[in-house]
Amino acid sequence: MKIGIAADHGGFDQKQELFEYLHSNGHDVTDFGAFEFDESDDYPDKVKPLAIAVSKGEIQKGIAICGSGVGVTVAANKVPGVRAALITEPYSAHQGVEHDNMNLMCLGGRVMGGVVLKELVEIFITAEYVEEERFQRRLRKVEDLEKEFRK
Ligand code: RB5
Repeated sequence: MKIGIAADHGGFDQKQELFEYLHSNGHDVTDFGAFEFDESDDYPDKVKPLAIAVSKGEIQKGIAICGSGVGVTVAANKVPGVRAALITEPYSAHQGVEHDNMNLMCLGGRVMGGVVLKELVEIFITAEYVEEERFQRRLRKVEDLEKEFRK
């Protein structure tokens, strides 16, 4: 499984730490930037390459971090095929994958850190989508919404 990670300045330090953590644990992880701390960078620019890679299926699980996690969530969900959610606790980190096939987990670097972020990442990357009819039906409806409003 290919994992991708991206952050703006609000999540830069946490991205560096999580990249190292995933890499040293043997995961296939790609860093989509930011590649240096720049207080003037903008979260849509930083999450876009990761969101596109997720939508193309090049990355199976994406992790995006900004200050609160809100900005990257909003921006990533504009890319068709991305199912991004802001995660702050363990239940949603796995249930979001199991029920909703979340493929991009968003985190807030200014509101969370350390071992909590690592635990949420572990839960997210090990969770698997459950192919039950009710979940499939709901996801088809999400896809229909995306098609309805796509120009
Ligand atoms: C950047 O200052 C900050 O606004 C951004 O990282 C994020 O928190 C937006 O949601």
